[in-house]
This record gives sequence, C-alpha cells and structure tokens, in this order.
Amino acid sequence: MVRFALVGCGRIAERHAELLAREHVPGAILSAVCDVLPDRAEKFGKKYNVPWFTDAHVMLKEQASKIDVLSILTPSGKHTENTLELVKYKKHILVEKPMALTVESADAMIKACRDAGVHLFVVKQNRLNLPVQKLKQAHDQGRFGKLILGTIRVRWCRPQAYYDQDSWRGTWKWDGGVFANQASHHIDLLSWMMGPVESVYTQISTHLAKIEAEDTGVALLKFKNGAMGVIEATTATRPKDLEGSISILGENGTVEIGGFAVNEMRVWNFSEPQSEDAEVLTRYRENPPNVYGFSHSRYLSQVVQCLKGGDPSPVDGEEGKKSLELIHALYSSAETGKEVFLKDQPRSKRLGK
Ligand SMILES: NC(=O)c1ccc[n+]([C@@H]2O[C@H](COP(=O)([O-])OP(=O)(O)OC[C@H]3O[C@@H](n4cnc5c(N)ncnc54)[C@H](O)[C@@H]3O)[C@@H](O)[C@H]2O)c1
Repeated sequence: MVRFALVGCGRIAERHAELLAREHVPGAILSAVCDVLPDRAEKFGKKYNVPWFTDAHVMLKEQASKIDVLSILTPSGKHTENTLELVKYKKHILVEKPMALTVESADAMIKACRDAGVHLFVVKQNRLNLPVQKLKQAHDQGRFGKLILGTIRVRWCRPQAYYDQDSWRGTWKWDGGVFANQASHHIDLLSWMMGPVESVYTQISTHLAKIEAEDTGVALLKFKNGAMGVIEATTATRPKDLEGSISILGENGTVEIGGFAVNEMRVWNFSEPQSEDAEVLTRYRENPPNVYGFSHSRYLSQVVQCLKGGDPSPVDGEEGKKSLELIHALYSSAETGKEVFLKDQPRSKRLGK
C-alpha cells in the first residue's frame, strides 16, 4: 500500500481523504492528517479514523514509518514553504495546483525534491478526464493535421461568499485571480494540446468580487507552431456555473469538450473518419457532482502506479511549471498593456508577492 498523509484539511482535502480512506484508489490508503486549525484536523481525523496533528513536523516525526507521500493541500501561496520545510523527511511530495505562485519558487521545489531523491507530483486531474484523454489521443495520432485555433472558456460562478470564506482567496500573495486559480486547469490543457506558446496579449478586470486579483480575464495567444489561441475566463458568471470548455481546430478536424468541468464531448468532427468515431460523443462524457470532476482518483492511481510499478510520473514538477510560466506571461501582459513573448520569461510583478 502507498500511504498518504495530508497537510491541510480544507475543501480539496475532503476529495483526497474520501478517495484514499474509502478505498477508491487501488493500492492507496490515508495514514494521517494535519491542519494548523485544530478543529479541522480533529474533524478529519475522527471522520476518516486516522491520527490527526496540528503540526506537520510532529506528524512526520511520530508517523515517519507510516507515510510514503505527503499531500500538500494548503493555500496556493504556501505550497513552496511547506514543500521546502517538509522535504527533509524524504517523503514523496504531491502538491495541488497551482504548484507554486512564482516560477522561482517552483524551481526551488523541483530542486529540493530532486536533491532529496523524492518525486514531486503536481495535481492536474483534468488531463485525465475521459473526453480530454480521447482528445489527446486524437492529437497524438496526428488526426488534426496542422493546428489552427485553440480556445478555452471558463464561465464559473464564485460569489463573494466563496472569496470571504478564507482570507487567502483572491489575494495576489496567496492565490491570484481566475487565471492562477480556477482557469489554471484549462490553461494547462490548452498549452498541453497546442504546444509551447510564443506570445500572449491579455486584459484582466475585477467586476463583481471584492478581491485584489481579477475575476475576469481574456487573452489572445500565438503558439510556436503558428496556431492561435483564445482564453476567456471568469468567476463572475451568474447565477451558477455555466461552462468549462476547450475546443481545438485543425486543418483536418474539430473537437470541442464542454460541460461545466471539461466533462462532455460535444463536437468530434474529422475529415477522415475512423470506425469508432460514431460512438465518441456518447461514450466520452461523464457527469461529475462538482467542478473538481472525477479525475482525482485517476491521478492518485497513476501516482500509485508510478511508485509501485515504475510507470512515468503523471505530471511532475517540470511539467507542472509550464502552465505557471504561461500564467505569469498572461499577468505580465495585463500589467504592461503589451503583447509579451515567452522567450523573454515575462513575470507578473504581483502574483505570489
Ligand atoms: N485540483 C483541483 O481541482 C482543486 C480544487 C480546489 C482547490 N485546489 C487547490 O488546493 C489548494 C487548497 O485549496 P482549498 O480550497 O482546499 O483551501 P482551504 O483554505 O479550504 O484549505 C487549506 C487548508 O490548509 C490549512 N493550512 C494552511 N497552512 C498549513 C500548514 N502549514 N500546515 C497544515 N495545514 C495548513 C488551512 O488551515 C486550511 O484548512 C489550493 O492550492 C487550491 O488551488 C485544487
């Protein structure tokens, strides 16, 4: 069994704990939890029947022989500090998205894990959504031919109460806005499908939420392969979540995945059809209960396969860093009012500061 301990017992930790403690991930168990807030740690400990702690160092000392993977599920701006402090216990590190808020801190995490001889896993569960996997397969088979245009749309509803529940949400230092938080999944998918980005031009604004960072952003992208891209992301959709989608247009085909969580194959058109194409729209759709989707269990299973079976890491630190670099370019363009080029390593002056 691969034994996971959780650092942070907040919202996303519920998902991890449910999957690990209820045996939804073959070969994995939950072994301990900690949160600096005693009531949260205690609630998780009692609910999932595992030892609970208010200090990760104490957890790692007392449970050292019972932990293989440390899951960092704290506010985004704390991931680096937590990783750098705790990697000395030489447990594999799994970190929620975004892995860090500055590229330099992502580099420090990658180096620290490499030096300690442990894996660094970055949760990008949407890559494992059924329709997304199907799209990637078509892409890797070259079915699109030359890529023309990639678009992501994130039209989610995050009312003020969402931001008010914790002081870190929507701040530049600990979170960022819709690009760094909610749309970071879709930005990752767009660059995963379309390839490295050459330049971006962005505008951001804050319409409804009383937060430091943006609740809405739009961007135009040029990819190195000559294709173009569009990002439209907002948490100011009312009164409820509408869409989390990606569409890829190539010279030989068009695919669109929609639903509110990139969960439904909506369009699957290719100039040269294959026999199973007729079933793709009905087979590649799932109906998750919330925007987190179903794929955390698939991601955690791949972590287990990597540690037990020697499979490749699902998304490692270097791979996780790519979308962070793109997010910094998006913000840098918004801050300067100019098109920025990734080769110049543009960085936001605010995110993570
Ligand atoms: N993959 C996804 O779909 C997804 C979804 C939601 C959130 N997330 C990510 O997960 C992370 C956490 O988000 P959340 O909504 O669960 O936040 P949250 O505020 O609900 O939970 C974070 C918890 O970490 C605790 N904490 C802070 N510092 C700590 C420390 N040093 N040691 C132990 N505990 C500590 C806090 O007390 C809090 O309970 C964020 O990075 C977020 O972007 C990912």
